[in-house]
Amino acid sequence: MKITFLGHACLQIELQNHTLIVDPFITGNSKNNKIQLSDIKANYILVTHAHQDHTLDVLTLAKQTGATLISNYEIVTHYEAQGVKGHPMNHGGSYGFNFGELKFVNAIHSSSFADGSYGGQPGGFILSAEGKSVYIAGDTALTYDMKLFGEEFDLNLAILPVGDNFTMGYADALRASKLLNCSRVLGYHFDTFGYIEINHDKAVNYFLDHGSSLELLEIGESLTL
Ligand code: NI
Ligand code: MN
Repeated sequence: MKITFLGHACLQIELQNHTLIVDPFITGNSKNNKIQLSDIKANYILVTHAHQDHTLDVLTLAKQTGATLISNYEIVTHYEAQGVKGHPMNHGGSYGFNFGELKFVNAIHSSSFADGSYGGQPGGFILSAEGKSVYIAGDTALTYDMKLFGEEFDLNLAILPVGDNFTMGYADALRASKLLNCSRVLGYHFDTFGYIEINHDKAVNYFLDHGSSLELLEIGESLTL
């Protein structure tokens, strides 16, 4: 599986026969001058919560690709009303898709659409596919629930917010990696705007000093599992 950082909290996950896009926010990202929304292919769009920095390009991408939206019930219903194909989930539920299995798990955050309407409860996903398991945290605080995720799944990678202010910062992300029992972390949700700028060297070294690894990719860069 190949995971490409598309900026902010947007990820492209390429499996053998399917491409998943997580939290599409391409056109509104002032740090992005590399990725064109119109170039993006997707079979599925995964959305963790309704905030605009996770949903801005959902409708355009869904219409352009015909992809199926996977998210909480309220977000799926919101986009189904606009003609998008959807698969609703809720916390604690797993489902076997044709690309692998997803579990929708708790996140500590909020979830409203840009107009203030209700976007359900925020979540994260645990993806199990091609013999690998990846935790995509979404926007969240550190929470002891992560210990349960680490007990249930043998995680190969944890994708965690590290930008602080709106989510946990990198020090709590390190604590999360311990609860998750996963020493390989991909950081996201940093640097996009002023409140969440971080010192990359400090963050990466903090992980190294504590026996874990934090990767911070440039927009368009990938890692392979
Ligand atoms: Ni958010
Ligand atoms: Mn966010």
